Amino acid sequence: MNKTIIVSNRLPVDLKFDDEKLVVKSSTGGLATGMKSVHSEGNGIWIGWSGLAQEEVSEELQVEVDEALAKEKCIQVPLTNADIDNYYHGFSNSALWPLFHYFQAYTEFEWNHWKSYVEVNEKFAKVILEHVNDGDTVWVHDYQLLLVPELLRKSNPNITIGFFLHIPYPSYELFITCPWRNELLQGMLGADLIGFHTYDYVRHFLSSVSRIKDVEISFNEISYGNRIIKVDSFPMGIDYNRYHDAALEHDKYLEDSKSDFMKSLDFHNKSNEESKLILSIDRMDYTKGIPNRIKSFEYFLNKYPEYKEKVRLVMLAVPSRENVPQYQKLKRETDELVGRINGQLSTISWTPVWYFYRSLPFHDLIDLYVSSDVAMVTPVRDGMNLVAKEYIATRTKENGVLILSEMAGAAKEMHEALIVNPNNFEQTADAIKTALEMPQEEQKERLAALQKRISRYDVERWAGEFLKALEVAKNTEPIQV
Ligand code: UDP
Ligand code: G6P
Repeated sequence: MNKTIIVSNRLPVDLKFDDEKLVVKSSTGGLATGMKSVHSEGNGIWIGWSGLAQEEVSEELQVEVDEALAKEKCIQVPLTNADIDNYYHGFSNSALWPLFHYFQAYTEFEWNHWKSYVEVNEKFAKVILEHVNDGDTVWVHDYQLLLVPELLRKSNPNITIGFFLHIPYPSYELFITCPWRNELLQGMLGADLIGFHTYDYVRHFLSSVSRIKDVEISFNEISYGNRIIKVDSFPMGIDYNRYHDAALEHDKYLEDSKSDFMKSLDFHNKSNEESKLILSIDRMDYTKGIPNRIKSFEYFLNKYPEYKEKVRLVMLAVPSRENVPQYQKLKRETDELVGRINGQLSTISWTPVWYFYRSLPFHDLIDLYVSSDVAMVTPVRDGMNLVAKEYIATRTKENGVLILSEMAGAAKEMHEALIVNPNNFEQTADAIKTALEMPQEEQKERLAALQKRISRYDVERWAGEFLKALEVAKNTEPIQV
């Protein structure tokens, strides 16, 4: 029986050694959380990096690592410390990530980073080829592995290769600044089908391909040599029922829960029922607009002082890519901003911003989603943003308002949210007021429309539609020359 192999840099589990004890955590990030349910229901394997450096894993520990990964149907591509520095922190996250998110000033093109990127993509291809059989499907994910489709095609033309990009695809003017633009496109064009979250990203990609490579493009098809490559948009969804059901069962969970985090929060305290909660959840990443969000909240409190002591911003920022200088800078900036605002505005009984720099287990996340009156998802650039969809899925009591940035891919599907430009503090502050004062009936109507769409286009349907289109793409007749 043919199988589907999922390939991404990050596996759904993240391994660490703590005093020689193996700690297995769920990975953070939309790719891992979204694909996890697709993977657990399928019959295939997932190939990727475990989060460990090869140097940390002795022969004895390797057995333990393999066992932990086997439980999750995962196979690792071992990376050395040098790979992690140059391929992961380097080319992937100091060149491609900022470039594709329009942070050109943060983009560093370094030859040794590029060299490592090529080598690690080859390592990935090697491990995949050891596990793939003719007739299998390989679904490669995201910007860390742009060269893998072509590497696979060269070695085994009898497999079906899909590629999906989870981040934005930038305009041609930006993409062309990359010294290795030709190689990157060549790598992606090894796939039978290339998928993006939105049609805008598809357009940008086709425009880059048509100007850089010798191809013909008709609608969403690229004729390249004797092959046809299909390109399309597939907006990623979430495992809607998992979030919705967890929210429905949350009250009971709360009663039984021993979670220190939940116990430490006073949301559930009767005396705080009048106070409103605004939630923000992201990885600590400069694309997420965290400083802008805090400043908009400050602007709101100063413009509408009657809300002082009546509303709090609960901000969960998950540590991410901490070795990259721009992420360290953002962390310092955020710490300072929160410190300044809390220092200036707090009273004995009120702290305006509650800030947590950590990741949380699933049920604690659900607790935050369920307890919040408003969610602010205001990235300055984001491929999709699944947090926005998760918040909507957990609103089981017909209330709750989403403030969503127009720069997130999710905004293309979630028109009933309050859509804002995250750089416009005035507009964002006013949206906070509108959200807090929105009549219950209007909240209900907006939510109903959002929930209908997000529950219908869930992650299972997304994966199903991509894989169906991939099969069609593979069976498209080659061009006769
Ligand atoms: N998330 C998580 N643990 C946390 C906080 C967030 O697993 O402590 C998850 C969150 O539920 C969501 C994902 O991380 O599924 C973030 O995905 P999103 O698409 O919003 O952004 P990304 O991090 O992929 O840029
Ligand atoms: C985004 C990227 C993913 C990545 C995730 C977490 O969602 O699209 O590819 O896995 O962020 O980032 P990390 O660097 O920790 O894998």
